[in-house]
Amino acid sequence: MTDKLFKLTDPETGKHSDLPVRVPTIGPPVAGVGSMYRDLGAFTYDPGYAATASCQSAVTYIDGEKGVLMYRGYPIEQLAEHSNFIEVAYLLLYGELPKPDQLERFDTTIRTHTMLNEALLRFFNGFHYDAHPMAMVTGVVASMSAFYHDSTNVSDPEHRDIFAHRMIAKIPTIAAAAYKHSVGQPFVYPRNELDYCGNLLNMFFAVPASNYEVDPVAAEALDMLFILHADHEQNCSTSTVRLAGSSGTNPYSAIAAGNAALWGPAHGGANEAVINMLETIGSVDQIPKFVNRAKDKSDPFRLMGFGHRVYKSYDPRASIIRGMAHRVLNNLGRTNTPLFDLALELEQIALKDDYFVEKNLYPNVDFYSGIIYRALGIPKSMFTVMFAIARTVGWVTHWREMLSDPEFRIGRPRQLYIGAEQRDYAALSER
Ligand code: ACO
Repeated sequence: MTDKLFKLTDPETGKHSDLPVRVPTIGPPVAGVGSMYRDLGAFTYDPGYAATASCQSAVTYIDGEKGVLMYRGYPIEQLAEHSNFIEVAYLLLYGELPKPDQLERFDTTIRTHTMLNEALLRFFNGFHYDAHPMAMVTGVVASMSAFYHDSTNVSDPEHRDIFAHRMIAKIPTIAAAAYKHSVGQPFVYPRNELDYCGNLLNMFFAVPASNYEVDPVAAEALDMLFILHADHEQNCSTSTVRLAGSSGTNPYSAIAAGNAALWGPAHGGANEAVINMLETIGSVDQIPKFVNRAKDKSDPFRLMGFGHRVYKSYDPRASIIRGMAHRVLNNLGRTNTPLFDLALELEQIALKDDYFVEKNLYPNVDFYSGIIYRALGIPKSMFTVMFAIARTVGWVTHWREMLSDPEFRIGRPRQLYIGAEQRDYAALSER
């Protein structure tokens, strides 16, 4: 907080409100509007929260104009190059890079809490084989609240830690169970000797009938995608987790709410939507037709994987993923990559188009991630689940941060009411 105040005056009544200005470590100042209703009798109106800071946070910083993303102050490019997902998870949760013994303890904790209660595992049999994996994952994560209630006292920091570790450790197992159920294969139990992504790949692709060796190229690619997706400050799903969690609800329910929010095509569902779009476009000569459709206001079609609420220059994660897609496809020996070639061409055409230039619409993180997932053999319907595994770290981190924030209150927005004025009930016969 500073002594600086923004001053608001109602020109009709002459009433004033002094809005205290809070200065962040980096980024634009934030005006506290809490006194506005008391002083002026007015609320603020900001659909989609485009100009509203909903909380204070020390986790992630984004500069959308400059294309900057940092976790706990560390640029995403450095983390993607030098770190790994488990270390990043520790960094996000605890605020500092771990020392060797801290990392070893954390890694062991996560590796040794990957199994699910057998009864929870049986839930999957209740889903139809063609249920969307995000529906299964959301439902099963919510069901965790009926199982692990030895440690859900949200005001106990130790319980919060146990929950965080459990959630991060078990989400790959839940994701893999959803996948195995959808392809009708037997569930594969986690293996503690494998690292986070190796274990996930093994649970996905191992079958009892033959040996499966984790491909280190695939595990490394997945690890990097998970680093890039681990957190993104107050995005739709994270804000949902905070809002749900703010009532003090069981934390597994709050994470399930985050999964539900992530699923939408405007958010985490975009990676699946991008591949659907590329398949529909089909060939390079069709691109102009679809670019024109995306520009046509009367056509609901949008270029999926383009545009972002915060990034108004290139999404830094998209740059990393784009480079990685080249490497992964080469290393996996994929030389015939029509979908990737189509994506590269579409990007080039859109980036030169006045409509996309004027509206600052650039590829976002999901424009290329689906291409990599597909090269790893992960089916389209699982893409958003992969995103959810990584983002679970961010959700849990924000949930923990919220509960230890001295300014924390239940989330409860106000509204601009535009409904009917008071009127009297009319009996059915008189309507
Ligand atoms: N294709 C065509 N036009 C677009 C696109 C697009 N992908 N994205 C935005 N626009 C246009 C809008 O029509 C609007 O035009 P107008 O000003 O003439 O009305 C303008 O650009 C601004 O778009 P908004 O929808 O108002 O921007 P908002 O910040 O609300 O939405 C969003 C951001 C949801 C990401 C949007 O760009 C979009 O729908 N993109 C496609 C879906 C997608 O890729 N989502 C993933 C986001 S990243 C993530 O969640 C991990």
